Amino acid sequence: MGALDPILGELSISHAFWGVIVSSTFTFLMKLYAARRRFLRLKERNLPMPPWSPLFGHLLYVASIMSNLPRDCHPHYMAGEIRRAMPELGPLFYLDLWPFGPQMLIVSSPDAAYQITQKHSLPKYHALRRFLYPLTHGFDLLTMEGNYWKEWRAIFSPGFNGSHLMTLVPGLVEDTEAFCDILHERARKGVLAPLHEATTNLAMDVIGRVALDTQLNTQRGQNPLAKALRNQIPWLNFGNDMDLLARFNPFRPLICWRNKRTMDQYLARELDTRYRTKSMTLVNGAERGRSITDLAIDTYLNRSTGTQRLDETFMKFAINQIILFMFAGHDTTSSTICYALYLLSTHPLALAELRKEHDTVLGTNTSETATLLRQSPYLLNQLPYTLAVIKETLRLFPAASSTRSGEPGTHVLAGGQRFPTEGFMVWSLHQALHRDPTLWNMPDAFRPERWLPDRADEFNRPLRDAWRPFEFGPRNCLGQELAVLEIKVVLVMLVRTFNVIVAYEEWDRLQGHHDGKPHNMTVAGERAYQVGMQHPSEGFPCRIQVLTS
Ligand code: HEM
Ligand SMILES: *[C@@H]1O[C@H](CO)[C@@H](O)[C@H](O)[C@H]1NC(C)=O
Ligand SMILES: *[C@@H]1O[C@H](CO)[C@@H](O)[C@H](O)[C@H]1NC(C)=O
Ligand SMILES: *[C@@H]1O[C@H](CO)[C@@H](O)[C@H](O)[C@H]1NC(C)=O
Ligand SMILES: *[C@@H]1O[C@H](CO)[C@@H](O)[C@H](O)[C@H]1NC(C)=O
Repeated sequence: MGALDPILGELSISHAFWGVIVSSTFTFLMKLYAARRRFLRLKERNLPMPPWSPLFGHLLYVASIMSNLPRDCHPHYMAGEIRRAMPELGPLFYLDLWPFGPQMLIVSSPDAAYQITQKHSLPKYHALRRFLYPLTHGFDLLTMEGNYWKEWRAIFSPGFNGSHLMTLVPGLVEDTEAFCDILHERARKGVLAPLHEATTNLAMDVIGRVALDTQLNTQRGQNPLAKALRNQIPWLNFGNDMDLLARFNPFRPLICWRNKRTMDQYLARELDTRYRTKSMTLVNGAERGRSITDLAIDTYLNRSTGTQRLDETFMKFAINQIILFMFAGHDTTSSTICYALYLLSTHPLALAELRKEHDTVLGTNTSETATLLRQSPYLLNQLPYTLAVIKETLRLFPAASSTRSGEPGTHVLAGGQRFPTEGFMVWSLHQALHRDPTLWNMPDAFRPERWLPDRADEFNRPLRDAWRPFEFGPRNCLGQELAVLEIKVVLVMLVRTFNVIVAYEEWDRLQGHHDGKPHNMTVAGERAYQVGMQHPSEGFPCRIQVLTS
């Protein structure tokens, strides 16, 4: 018997092995059948979609579209390119990327976007929660739902109120001064380098300051919180990641656990300090700029009558909100700053007009700008052209989009058809909406004037619902006023002191990129196309020059 044991063992192992293969193949085929059948139903009802195959869904079609795009470009271009290639599809269509991606309903008309975010706000796309889990363990405003979400949004929103943010301008100015120092240094050394990392550090510092009244100093040094957050980001995924090595990396849970612990402990310490110093300032009656978290603490303590200390619940939610603010606010704002500088430096007339507005409102002596902003932050509300530049930048390069989960019984009505949403990722695609030639005059042109009421007749007046970089409805961006304020401060303090010289050609030459390598390098003729988390390709390589007056 003894001699047979290993053979029997092997037999049962190979049985188990084949068992697993057969049953998982069977499961896969069942799922494939269900997925494709769902699309067959849509086709039978004549709902719009690109050429579809019962076996491959839209995988082959999308592969052919993607082969004309740079490998690293952001997926939101995919749907935009499909619309360009097949205008007859209209602004709503279905895409079947199963098993490599979700089955989706693409939405890129103002009215349909209104239906899913305002008229009836669909829940956030379920996979977002999985995506953000390593950062917030599910306790974040971006993905929470229902009363839970409502309650915590109400606790945190007072700090994001525009008039409150004005009290935080001195801090923003100080962080932007550090950024200007970095640009001076670059100008002196004459370096050609991507700018995106520097703007990201600036945005991180700003969030640390406004959210927690702490100086993270990521621009000047290393900060453990920012570092752990950065280390965590590459590990986020939607669960259908093609990079199997990253997805099943056995060290992933350990790395994620460590980064999360570092972030949590850092913020717990900060909150502790903040709360103690807050009680002290209250005792002394001294007034100073109060952070978003200070205001959240007020609201929270007022609600839970009797509590005089921060309990575990508040700590947990506050920590995870701050991590979310850092995540949701740093890359978006920083990319928008890069794109504003990019568009201004490639549009000299707009740049001249912007400088003129700053001279008129803030005086011509730029050494006094910082002091002036500290004293009179409300001057920032008197810069219509600056605001127009920011709006136009966000139109051309929206830094985010909105993904929702469809629901049984919820349909989108468009063009006399009913579009079912159940089982689909419903994607409000700002990129396609913002460049739709039926909605915008000269959609690909950078024309800030279109946002100025007295000069907009040269164009169609923009439709309000067609510009949604921050999305509308109850789940709109909580940080939008902060983002716009921060970009204003940066533009005001930068554009009259520096010239930013876009240097993609030189950069590509130095990197050994040339036509067709690594791929067709432009999207619709645009070299600075959006990649990854929607930031500019190659991190926006440029040179900085100091203006001599
Ligand atoms: C240019 C900069 C920014 C853009 C374009 C942007 C865009 C957006 C968009 C489109 C959404 C809705 C997402 C969805 O429906 O799934 C959103 C949500 C959100 N954003 Fe922003 N954002 C920016 C900056 C910021 C900043 C600076 C912060 C905070 C410091 C922030 C905090 C949030 C939060 C908390 C939510 C979730 C709100 C909720 O669901 O209640 N964002 N943002
Ligand atoms: C912001 O605060 C001002 C005054 O402090 C108030 O009038 C306004 O209603 C607030 N706005 C929001 C959106 O809460
Ligand atoms: C908290 O309650 C106090 C006293 O009732 C009130 O003065 C204060 O405005 C409240 N703060 C907030 C943020 O609701
Ligand atoms: C500009 O402002 C600075 C600081 O207030 C001052 O020292 C300088 O003399 C001013 N320059 C001009 C040309 O007025
Ligand atoms: C690159 O893409 C553009 C359109 O985005 C196209 O006109 C051009 O022919 C493409 N070039 C190559 C080399 O494929």
